[in-house]
Amino acid sequence: MHLAMIGTGYVGLVSGACFADFGHHVTCIDKDTAKIDKIKAGVMPIWEPGLEGLVKSNIQHGRLSFTTDLKAGIERADAVFIAVGTPARRGDGHADLTYVYEAVRELAKAATKPIVVVTKSTVPVGTGDRIAEILKEEGAPEGCSVASNPEFLREGAAIRDFKIPDRIVVGAEDDHAREVLKEIYRPLFLNQAPIVLTGRRTAELTKYAANAFLAMKISFINEVADLCEAVGADVQEVARGIGLDNRIGAKFLHAGPGYGGSCFPKDTLALLRTAEEAGVEQRIISTVVSVNDDRKAAMADRVAKAVGGSLKGKRIGVLGLTFKPNTDDMRDAPSIPLIQRLLEGGAEVAAFDPVGREQAEPLLPGITFAEDEYETAAGADAVVIVTEWDEFRALDLEVIAQKMKGKALVDLRNVYDRAEVERFGLVHFGVGRGQYG
Ligand code: UGA
Repeated sequence: MHLAMIGTGYVGLVSGACFADFGHHVTCIDKDTAKIDKIKAGVMPIWEPGLEGLVKSNIQHGRLSFTTDLKAGIERADAVFIAVGTPARRGDGHADLTYVYEAVRELAKAATKPIVVVTKSTVPVGTGDRIAEILKEEGAPEGCSVASNPEFLREGAAIRDFKIPDRIVVGAEDDHAREVLKEIYRPLFLNQAPIVLTGRRTAELTKYAANAFLAMKISFINEVADLCEAVGADVQEVARGIGLDNRIGAKFLHAGPGYGGSCFPKDTLALLRTAEEAGVEQRIISTVVSVNDDRKAAMADRVAKAVGGSLKGKRIGVLGLTFKPNTDDMRDAPSIPLIQRLLEGGAEVAAFDPVGREQAEPLLPGITFAEDEYETAAGADAVVIVTEWDEFRALDLEVIAQKMKGKALVDLRNVYDRAEVERFGLVHFGVGRGQYG
């Protein structure tokens, strides 16, 4: 099939490259000429394991191409996916649909035959209805369809998630759109990927409900972690003990510094705005949001406690800045409020991140960037693990201990056990493991 993908951000680029890898002919379209030129030259705009190789090989095989010319890009397309950004709107935090509607208007004017327009971007309930109206208003050819096909991929594991999905959700209002999408995903059905065929509004809401539920699991276990600290229990073992119950599930029960990233914070807020507009209270989700905000803000206090109460004049080494490992994405990263508060408290901060430095530098003025883990530890009163990059899982703790001035290892991701850290004369401050009780 011939597909067009409007927007070459995370979702658009990964989805475009994966669809091409299934054998479809995909044209990725973006307004940003510099970005398109770079991708064509093999330079990826994001850091995602496996993406560069996938893009290059599909370009070579003639299945994947890139253009800034929307009209030419959609000419042969059976379906046009919209994968442009839907950032949080300034002021009320609802999803900003400016880019989505702009793309639809252009598309409507450029189309010469009926097309299936598919939203892949995360869009609030009712966006598909509005897209259908815009197509009419702008004089798109008769017979166009609008479908919703939300994406559930995780940064850092995006290609795997796309190719081996837990499920595919397709929301459509007509048989033609349903059939076209089934055909597009046919290669995945060979691997028995389940498909949920539903109405458009249901598909749109499913995406938000999924992210809100996952955010809820994280906030839940983070609160349980606080309780564990107070009563002398171990949250890792509680998580295992509850997670082995299939009704609960073991995933997304890692206590830590609060969730960040480009999705959970933005999507939970947007869902609350949708609920407000619908006049329906969502007390659980609104609590999840405030629990998470408070948690991120409280992380600096943990560091302060670990260095004896006051941050003033203390040197803190921070390991990991991105919101999670295997990405260079700094959006809503827990490291940002943590470091701001450390600085406000009068600490000096040195930080290291394996790939996030370029993104982090403009966001974190006033800190120094170290070249590696061990330089980060040099002269530090405390070393704080904020992001669980694999390379922080087997640190040479003897060297870390030698380089540090103090003894505190604040392990916000529970990468280490207390006993293994204490062997090197360090004091371990994990999350939810009894230390602060
Ligand atoms: C999330 C969802 O997991 C994807 O299914 C979804 O497609 C995506 O949002 C999206 O809407 O585009 P992502 O934001 O890439 O994916 O990353 P996650 O792995 O979900 O992690 C999000 C945050 O939760 C990170 O800050 C992570 O450290 C935190 N987290 C995750 C925890 O603190 N504990 C956990 O157990 C799991």
